[in-house]
Amino acid sequence: MAASNAGEVRASFAGQAAAFEDVTRHFGRKDVAEWMAANTPVDVDDIVLEVAAGTALFGRAIAPLVRAVIAIDITPEMLSEGKRVADASGRSNLLFQIGDATRLPFLDASFDAVISRLAVHHFDDPDAALSEMVRVCRPGGTVTVIDMVVVDESNADRFNDLERRRDQAHTRALTRTGLRDAVERAGLHVTHTSSWENVLDGERWMEQTSTSADDAAVIRAAWDEELSGGAATGMAPRRRDGHIEFVHIWDLIGAQRLMPR
Ligand SMILES: C[S@@+](CC[C@H](N)C(=O)[O-])C[C@H]1O[C@@H](n2cnc3c(N)ncnc32)[C@H](O)[C@@H]1O
Repeated sequence: MAASNAGEVRASFAGQAAAFEDVTRHFGRKDVAEWMAANTPVDVDDIVLEVAAGTALFGRAIAPLVRAVIAIDITPEMLSEGKRVADASGRSNLLFQIGDATRLPFLDASFDAVISRLAVHHFDDPDAALSEMVRVCRPGGTVTVIDMVVVDESNADRFNDLERRRDQAHTRALTRTGLRDAVERAGLHVTHTSSWENVLDGERWMEQTSTSADDAAVIRAAWDEELSGGAATGMAPRRRDGHIEFVHIWDLIGAQRLMPR
């Protein structure tokens, strides 16, 4: 069965493809690409699968280091934009394919490494998607997952409510320990972790998903309340030059599919 939120996901990301390739945004920043590549163990002969790849910004950071990257995603517009940019850059070891993370169209143990960024919080069944990533990774291969996390568990519901108001394709960002637990529950051995802090402009972030005026007003009010000493949103809002900025923490969990004993 396809992901039950597939309709919301496609509707949301069909209109966001250009934003992921917008060089003034954080998604494709050079320092982010360097951080991802430095924390993703791969070899020159590896065949790598990127799951819920979008425009394959993670895959394109890794592509120069490996034999090939296959980028799979449920939203054709995201893949087309990634392919356009990859082709224009002359990068020829990437292949873009439509497909659902919870039903990967590959045989068991097909890949040396599996990677995924900013996708777990869109899955309606993260365990199903993670177990698919493990299934298609060969024993001894690696799985590297990056996602936004909630650092203080007590803010998780408020954080996720605001995120869903901004984007209906958001299901739930896990807590820091929740993401690691999910990776371990999938049967993986965690080898390393790393973290990246993104500071985002609040209005630009909402424009990207065409947040409704009503929901944008609720989100702004929540930030204002926190800035006046009220309840925390989990987004650490701050004022700068008349704008509200806030923080997304991305955790990277590096893991290995252990060899059978
Ligand atoms: C926030 S974007 C991240 C894109 C890319 N991974 C990145 O980090 O730049 C989330 C992506 O997950 C994809 N996605 C969500 N659920 C999916 C599913 N069940 N199967 C495949 N792709 C999915 C969306 O289409 C979208 O491209």
